Amino acid sequence: MTTTATEHLLTAEGITVRFGGLTALDDVDLRVRPGGVTGLIGPNGAGKTTLFNVLSGVLRPTSGTITWKGAPPSNRRTHHLARAGIARTFQGLNLFPLMTVLDNVAVGADRLARGGPLSLLTGLGRHHRDERELRERAMAALERFGVADTAYRLPGTLPYGVQKQVALARACVGDPELLLLDEPAGGLSGGQIGDLAAQIRELGRDMAVVLVEHHMDLVMEVCDHIVVLNFGRVISTGTPDEVRADPEVTRAYLGTTDDGNE
Ligand SMILES: Nc1ncnc2c1ncn2[C@@H]1O[C@H](COP(=O)(O)OP(=O)(O)OP(=O)(O)O)[C@@H](O)[C@H]1O
Ligand SMILES: [Mg+2]
Repeated sequence: MTTTATEHLLTAEGITVRFGGLTALDDVDLRVRPGGVTGLIGPNGAGKTTLFNVLSGVLRPTSGTITWKGAPPSNRRTHHLARAGIARTFQGLNLFPLMTVLDNVAVGADRLARGGPLSLLTGLGRHHRDERELRERAMAALERFGVADTAYRLPGTLPYGVQKQVALARACVGDPELLLLDEPAGGLSGGQIGDLAAQIRELGRDMAVVLVEHHMDLVMEVCDHIVVLNFGRVISTGTPDEVRADPEVTRAYLGTTDDGNE
């Protein structure tokens, strides 16, 4: 474990985000320990992606504080957080359509590079040796996720499930300490979701994972701890069994979705 000053890798306290008159997050606390899988669930519009945007530095909260390894992050801009060891996947894919799979993943390794963010794209400030190292790392990540044979293809030519694996490889290529996964099972078949569950458990042995998902079977299977959001507020926290048994959680899902998700 790399944390010495604190048992928590990341803490978010009192996070509030307002978009005009809409309060997307209302005084939310989240604590993430090194290693393990934390579930972040809740009905559509609950604020899950907004919280990821805050944690990954894309969005500055209206109020609240973030600490990373016991101290405020020195610079909240995204690529600095990535260098500090926070990586994410996006709801959907967010792969660059005109770059090969290999280059898409190499971009994710930028935190390890000397040339600065996105210098792989611009070609500025990077040595050929760095580029070669990045591509070697990217290839190793593609191998880890079983999609190395797609390295020189464009993402859009691949099946959705394969693209999801590429997105995972891109997030993991920089060896993050915290990995934020936003609906990794979205659009996958039942069998693919089973494989994903095993992958997420495996990832949770190397790094802390925060998982946003609507597939409750997956969440209940892989998470050590779950935080439930509804209308921007934390309404329940606990083990999968505790959260499943919480009537407040059932109410939230039944109140806002047609099928209740369970
Ligand atoms: N940039 C924005 N501007 C205005 N409102 C926003 C913005 N981003 C999100 N919202 C609103 O904030 C609320 C929370 O949205 P968010 O995307 O975080 O929900 P979510 O829990 O990720 O939902 P889903 O499960 O559908 O992905 C929603 O009401 C959404 O419409
Ligand atoms: Mg979302």
